[in-house]
Amino acid sequence: MEELKNRIVSADEAASWIEDGMTLGLSGFTRAGDAKAVPMSLVERAKTDPFKVNIFTGASLGFDLDKMMAEAGIIHKRLPFQADPVMRKEINEGHLLFVDQHLSHTAESIRSGILGPVDYAIVEAVAITEDGLIIPATSVGNSSIFVDRAENVIVELNTAQPAELEGLHDIFNPNDPGKRGPIRLTSVDERIGEIGIRVDPVKIKGIVLTNAQDSPSTIVPPDAETAQMADHLIAFFREEVKAGRLTNELAPLQSGIGSVANAVMHGLIESEFENLEVYSEVLQDAVFDLFDCGKIRFASGCSITLSEEKMQDVYSNLARYQGKLVLRPQEISNHPELIRRLGLLSINTALEADIYGNVNSTHVLGTKMMNGIGGSGDFARNCRTAIFVTKSTAKGGAVSSIVPFVSHVDHTEHDVDVIVTEQGYADLRGLAPRERVLVIIENCAHPAYKEQLRRYYEEALSRGGQTPHVLEKALSWHTRLAETGSMLEQSSLSLS
Ligand code: COA
Repeated sequence: MEELKNRIVSADEAASWIEDGMTLGLSGFTRAGDAKAVPMSLVERAKTDPFKVNIFTGASLGFDLDKMMAEAGIIHKRLPFQADPVMRKEINEGHLLFVDQHLSHTAESIRSGILGPVDYAIVEAVAITEDGLIIPATSVGNSSIFVDRAENVIVELNTAQPAELEGLHDIFNPNDPGKRGPIRLTSVDERIGEIGIRVDPVKIKGIVLTNAQDSPSTIVPPDAETAQMADHLIAFFREEVKAGRLTNELAPLQSGIGSVANAVMHGLIESEFENLEVYSEVLQDAVFDLFDCGKIRFASGCSITLSEEKMQDVYSNLARYQGKLVLRPQEISNHPELIRRLGLLSINTALEADIYGNVNSTHVLGTKMMNGIGGSGDFARNCRTAIFVTKSTAKGGAVSSIVPFVSHVDHTEHDVDVIVTEQGYADLRGLAPRERVLVIIENCAHPAYKEQLRRYYEEALSRGGQTPHVLEKALSWHTRLAETGSMLEQSSLSLS
């Protein structure tokens, strides 16, 4: 495509095309494959020329882009996920609007026009092929729907990303509602689409040349508590094998973002389970550690997000994973039809769970946004077994992650099968609410909070009901935390 060479422009020039009030669809999913140069130029431009735009992405961005854009005040509305402390603060102070969306829903909202037109898709790529395919870098995220629906496309061609990524992607567009057939993917390793994002070359308004690696992930290594959680999860899987519901190959695994989910996956390295498959959205360090010790047969994701050390190793040796890895759009990695068909075991992290199994993954003290629901709802609602992991306490023990009533509900009791903490696991499947309370308190709560939880439940029982509660006290643990700095009642034993 000789003609495209004439469209090479600087990031500043591309940024100058963006007008106040526009909507931008940026590539990027959990710090991987983000458009880097044009957003930076937009932040620079805002210093002398203030404006606001809507920023849609796959998920969170690297390079401190979410932080810088939030600080520069250029965002009117942001969706569907972020994980940056500064942006979080701006959201919680009401300075920018955040739509916390199921990650499989964004493409559908764009297709239906609910989110309005996308003026510019700005996507990172490792190549544009002769036959008009944009080859994404380390994530697909929502890039294919942005390119498909945007009026203009800016491609950031990044020479620092490994060229061997070409061939790794499988881009499938499910078409508009009402014109769709089944998505013909019946195993994690099947390919159903093209190796790149098909684009009408006329829409490519500019190509910006860049040379910068993704930001490394910020996950912290496994610790004693996450190792215990991994042990409990493995004990649960063993029971499933014993009961004949799983074999030693388990079922395709999905694991969410963050240190806890990564550490729990890491625990599988020492287990007897083998020939594993992964059907997830983000592929973190643990997936590649499992690959490297021969435990994983195939992994399908929509982004690769790695620590600095792992990134050097994986990207210098991509050939090692050839034929064992595929990256798909997030509406496919998180698609309800496929999650249900493949029968996933889904492992996601909760901030808190209540005694009946409702889970809060997003709102601290019921009001303050943490990161967003991400794909956890896509998976929990449709998978074979929805597992939520969380340490039993947070903030040095001042917070119990098992509470009488969650202060915000992301995953209802109907969608939560198993809760795992470092104390043990609660298998809630087939249990009525009154049965669930007992296993959650006894198996998952921290000993310092067990008696308090039992007292709450006894009082709730005296009022009766299918799901007994003392409604005026249901959120008293959260108000106590706000007032005294701890959820512990004064009469309870301290944690130390
Ligand atoms: N109340 C208040 N704060 C809490 C808390 C609670 N009940 N539970 C945890 N936290 C705090 C921790 O103290 C920690 O704070 P710090 O950053 O100041 O140290 C922070 O939340 C992160 O917790 P951590 O235990 O380190 O876990 P994590 O890195 O695995 O993140 C989630 C946990 C829930 C925030 C994260 O997994 C998430 O955003 N999940 C929702 C999206 C999702 O599940 N996506 C899955 C598909 S991508």
